[in-house]
Amino acid sequence: MKTAILYISVHHGNTKKVAAAMAQVLPADLIDLSLSNDVDLSQYDLVGLASGCFYHNMHEKILDFARQTHFPKGQKIFLLCTCGTPYRDYTKSMKKLLKQKGISVTGSFQCRGFDTFGPFARIGGIAKGHPNEKDLAKAREWAGSLN
Ligand SMILES: Cc1cc2nc3c(=O)[nH]c(=O)nc-3n(C[C@H](O)[C@H](O)[C@H](O)COP(=O)(O)O)c2cc1C
Repeated sequence: MKTAILYISVHHGNTKKVAAAMAQVLPADLIDLSLSNDVDLSQYDLVGLASGCFYHNMHEKILDFARQTHFPKGQKIFLLCTCGTPYRDYTKSMKKLLKQKGISVTGSFQCRGFDTFGPFARIGGIAKGHPNEKDLAKAREWAGSLN
């Protein structure tokens, strides 16, 4: 199964770390959407869309990418999101957007990522050290179950 993980990881590189861990086991091509969103998805059976959480949603650029992209029929999609406070599912809007395009998401994985947004900077940030080895091990295990 040919797999790609498309990511935006702009705050501390947290999502990139988790995506890279998943890419080891799948295996998957890692594509940084902040460099270019001109990506040919036609060769992939499975595509991961990944970003940090920004204001309770996945990053606007990855939401835009999903809005504008034609995903080939039969292609499977999974989601990865890292966040400072993991108390809700921040992939909900993305799932809704994809559902409106007739795409059902195979699964989603969320874990904490070091967060120095706004007032958190004054206390040295939250979720320090995340994603840690335990997070990455969980990510590898979860990704392994997608195959
Ligand atoms: C502008 C901004 C807004 C954020 N909003 C949220 C939020 O609503 N909920 C949350 O849990 N984390 C929030 N975060 C924290 C990031 O989601 C978290 O640090 C994430 O791991 C960043 O991923 P990245 O390093 O791959 O970009 C925010 C961070 C920034 C910079």
